[in-house]
Amino acid sequence: MKKMKFVLTTPQGIEDLAKREVEMLIKSAGLKGKVEEKPSGVEGRILAEIEESYYLDEKGKKREFEIASFLNENSRLLHRVIFQLSSTKLSNLEKEKALQEIYDFVSNSLIENYVKISESFAVRGFRKGEHEFTSIDVAKTVGSAIYDKLSKFGTPKVNLDHPSVIFRAEVINDVFFLGIDTTGDSSLHKRPWRVYDHPAHLKASIANAMIELAELDEGSVLDPMCGSGTILIELALRGYEGKIIGIEKYKKHLKGAMMNALAAGVLDKIDLIQGDATRLSHYLDSVDFVISNLPYGLKIGKKKLIPELYMKFFAELSKILGKRGVFLTTEKKAIEKAFEENGFKIIHHRLVGHGGLMVHLYIIK
Ligand SMILES: C[S@@+](CC[C@H](N)C(=O)[O-])C[C@H]1O[C@@H](n2cnc3c(N)ncnc32)[C@H](O)[C@@H]1O
Repeated sequence: MKKMKFVLTTPQGIEDLAKREVEMLIKSAGLKGKVEEKPSGVEGRILAEIEESYYLDEKGKKREFEIASFLNENSRLLHRVIFQLSSTKLSNLEKEKALQEIYDFVSNSLIENYVKISESFAVRGFRKGEHEFTSIDVAKTVGSAIYDKLSKFGTPKVNLDHPSVIFRAEVINDVFFLGIDTTGDSSLHKRPWRVYDHPAHLKASIANAMIELAELDEGSVLDPMCGSGTILIELALRGYEGKIIGIEKYKKHLKGAMMNALAAGVLDKIDLIQGDATRLSHYLDSVDFVISNLPYGLKIGKKKLIPELYMKFFAELSKILGKRGVFLTTEKKAIEKAFEENGFKIIHHRLVGHGGLMVHLYIIK
């Protein structure tokens, strides 16, 4: 059986969880395949080799199972699903030589099998590592190689804004990779329910990673500084049966969380309270789990107020938390001091890439 290769993208630091999710999805669809996290040591990437599979439609006609659509529709942790066309190791990283090698390699690839002359295309470039060229140079080079190749069959159509086919050209260190981005220009973490855009909202993929790390058991879950409600909404969308509660200090964000929950169709599944997390025990006697992306004081609020906010919040939390807490922050010193002084034990720590920063994720009890 022929195997199809997909390069899947996810935030740095949650590759293990994304790998596990993809393995579960493959299994649930009755597919066979192999999933590898961080292929060639590249962070934020998963490589999935999945056997082609067919099914009979209602008219008894044999149809190919659309693996890419299935992953795009069902994953909660992935950002992109890229169908891998080809890849090669560049022999020279000097600008002119590397770009010429990329041009020749693309010219020798069977591009015409993946884009019809009647379809418009665009190339999106990506680059990581030390290079003398930019991702735009890579995209331009690949774009002209594809254009020249397709010219043999007619006049190719380039549409940079709304292309039918998006090629993804990546150079990561000395590896060049060409694929078709089946996700499109809008990453999967940009959920359709987000009608209110909080200035410091959490990526839905990371919210799901935090939910998985919490190992919930249908007990009550609180996000005490819930902003626009990302964690709570994603939890409700997973069909969580336990109580889901959100607290947010500012009316504007709380209203935004309500609008988002309404758009997601889960407003009736979440209790949203306008309140102050430093007075937590005022609203709740107990809660089993807490999952929260705390304020860092970078985008909104003042950074110097963060240590005091954390200290007061964790003092209150120690009065009501039953099981576990999962937190995300850039403020390592402040949060670890607040954990220690309030009797919390760190049971897991990892770094996660969020908005260009590496953010600390903690599980405590
Ligand atoms: C990093 S944002 C959370 C964003 C949220 N995860 C989302 O995806 O929209 C932190 C939130 O904490 C809220 N906040 C700050 N201090 C608070 C307090 N004392 N009590 C409750 N909420 C507070 C802020 O207004 C902000 O909305």
